[in-house]
Parts: sequence; C-alpha cells; structure tokens
Amino acid sequence: MAYAHITGWGMAVPEKILTNDDLSQMVETNDEWIRSRTGIQERRIAADEQSSATLATDAAIKALDVANLKPTDLDLVIVSSSSPEHIFPSTASLVQDRIGASKAGAFDLSAACTGFIYAVDMGANAIRSGSLQNVLVIGTETLSRFVDWTDRNTCILFGDGAGAFVLQADERPGGVLASVLHSDGSGGDLLTLPAGGSKQPADAATVRDGLHFIQMDGKGVFRFATRVMARATKEAIEKVGLTTDDLDLVVPHQANLRIIDAAARGLKMPIEKFMINLERYGNTSTASIPIATVEAFERGRLKAGDKVVFVGFGAGLTWGALVAEWSGPRPVEKRVNHNLYVVWARIRSLILRGMRIVEGLLWGKYGRKK
Ligand SMILES: CC(C)(COP(=O)(O)OP(=O)(O)OC[C@H]1O[C@@H](n2cnc3c(N)ncnc32)[C@H](O)[C@@H]1OP(=O)(O)O)[C@@H](O)C(=O)NCCC(=O)NCCS
Repeated sequence: MAYAHITGWGMAVPEKILTNDDLSQMVETNDEWIRSRTGIQERRIAADEQSSATLATDAAIKALDVANLKPTDLDLVIVSSSSPEHIFPSTASLVQDRIGASKAGAFDLSAACTGFIYAVDMGANAIRSGSLQNVLVIGTETLSRFVDWTDRNTCILFGDGAGAFVLQADERPGGVLASVLHSDGSGGDLLTLPAGGSKQPADAATVRDGLHFIQMDGKGVFRFATRVMARATKEAIEKVGLTTDDLDLVVPHQANLRIIDAAARGLKMPIEKFMINLERYGNTSTASIPIATVEAFERGRLKAGDKVVFVGFGAGLTWGALVAEWSGPRPVEKRVNHNLYVVWARIRSLILRGMRIVEGLLWGKYGRKK
C-alpha cells in the first residue's frame, strides 16, 4: 500500500503591503475596527506583473526545492483557485509549462477557500490508489483583482498569495491519513462573484453594476464558519481514531481570528495549538492553509511525526478537514538545481511555441492539398 507524504512546501506573497491605516484612507474604516472584528493588520497585494500563475509558480518551485524533486518527475499539477488567470486554459497548465513539468497532467479545482483541502485530498487519493507517484498541489489567489475597493465589508478581508505542497508516494506509513469534504450549495449566495461566468457573461451592464466584484453576507458566512470548523475537525480525526489530545497543531483557514477562536472553543483546545498568521496576510482564500503551514514549519511548530489538521470553509458553501502525520524534510543525497530547471522550462516552452508556428506554416503550404 502506498502512503501520500507531504515532502515539500513553499509559499509566495507579493511584496506590496496594504495596512489597515492605508485602507482607512480609501474607505470609512479604521485600524481598531478591523483588528477587533477580524484580527487582520495588513495584507499583500499583487503588483501589475504578478498574477495567480506567477505566484503559484514561485510557490511551486520552492516546494519542489524542499522536496528535492525534479519537475519532470511530477505526474500531476492541481491548482486550487477562485481567482484563476482565465476560465480556460487552466492556471495549472500555465504553471505546468512554467516549471517544466513535462510529463504531468494539470487541472484547476474550484472549491473556494476550502479548495486546498480538496486538492490535497484528490492528490493523496491518486497516490494511495497506486496510480500516481508525485503530485504538486497549489493554492493561489489574486483576489485583490475582484475586490470592490469602495466596499468596506469585503475590501478589509482579502489578500494575495500562494502556497504549495509536494505529495509523494512512500511505503512508510504516515502522510495524509484521512479527510472529510462537504458542500451545501443552498448557501451559494452568501459569498459570490456573480458575473463573468456563463450565467452572466461580462458585458457593459455587469461591469456598470459591479457584478465582477466579490459580494458577501458577512454575518451569514460568519455563522456558517463557526458551526462547521470544529465539527469537520472532529469528523476527520475520528476517522483515524485520534482525539484532539493527539493533535500537535491545527492549521485553520485564515479568515477571521474570531472564527478560529470559536473553533478552538468548540474543540476544547487551547488557541496556542492553532497556527495563526492572518494578521499579516489577511484572508488569502485557498492559499491561506499552505502559507500558514510553511510559516508553522519555519517557526519550528511542525516536526516529523506530528499530527496536524488542516481545516477550512468557504464559498460554495464548502468546508472540510484533512488530518496528516507530518513527514518532515527527506534526507537529500544530491541537490536538484531548480534554477537550471526554470531556465530549461522557459527554453522548452519557447521551442514548443516555435514548433507550433512552423507546423502552422507547413500545414498551410502542404496540408491543404490533402
Ligand atoms: C465581515 C465581518 C468582519 C463583519 O463583522 P461584524 O461583526 O459581522 O460586523 P457587522 O457586519 O455586523 O457590522 C457592524 C457595524 O460595523 C460597520 N462596518 C462594517 N464594515 C466596517 C468596516 N470595515 N469598518 C468600520 N465599520 C464597519 C457596519 O456598517 C455596522 O454598522 P451599523 O451597526 O451602524 O450598521 C464578519 O462578519 C466576518 O468576518 N464574516 C466572515 C467573512 C469571511 O470570513 N469571509 C470569507 C469566507 S472564506
């Protein structure tokens, strides 16, 4: 039987910081209100040249570096995002090209802020079934592009960033142990981006009415989130016969400190067992769990053998939890030079594009005769 181990992790956030004081210059709000209602102090905002794919690529390369895995050894790239580059092609395919994962399949997954848990579950199941060996899972967002910067209900919450895990097959027990995934589409209207899809394609009216911006019933989402976080965590750990006492760390979706507090109370766990970094990044949606995991590791809060739960909720409505035994870094014999792979990936992409142009010319010249 194969186990799916988390062998690599990486994160990327934009350099630009937007503080609560900055926001108070833009809308009627203040630092005290935002801190006390959400716990957020600042968030990162993508520069013009950054996008969900560029942040995802940066996080992916770091995760591959930690795993010391060549991109050419990847079997699959899954990108979870609510702010993908396009409806199609998938952001996953763009990342696959940029990192040079020449043998990998790639697809996007949409489950809002719960998406990273869904994506890790999909990747882990593919590994445990024996069909794949190495899977790259990325959560990436540039939700700042979909925020109405005049709406104080939403613009204070979200930030940009990306985080990635490498999952690898191993016969040693451990890694991803169990997960629970849930959805309740009857609550879809609580958090939505109404236009830009097939129901309301972009036109002058949708743009005029601001339907390409995030719309949210904050209180409704808050009530839902406080209900499901503890419940999903319990469900996931019970599946593998663990109790909350067995948990070393909980990495919750970083939406609101009060929601995380409620989850801790619901689980009767000390808040110290929860990884919290939302004060610096805000809600980075599907990227928040991998970003918090990377920082938990860097702060020495995750060691090999630790039992960790990732738990999240989001639009859909969706929610879920995933329990894992942290594997820690693998012993490295020979380091893979990822800088070289990045250059190689760029050259490879250019050659493939060039070949397509030549193919088009030849087809135009000889193909028509057939
Ligand atoms: C959005 C959220 C922070 C609002 O907090 P809240 O305590 O519910 O605040 P309310 O919406 O009840 O607003 C209270 C008052 O503050 C005002 N207010 C709202 N946003 C404000 C802001 N940014 N600054 C100052 N005042 C604000 C409201 O207008 C209201 O004023 P009123 O009492 O005069 O009508 C909170 O509901 C929340 O975090 N919900 C979950 C959202 C979430 O996590 N979304 C992502 C899911 S993945």
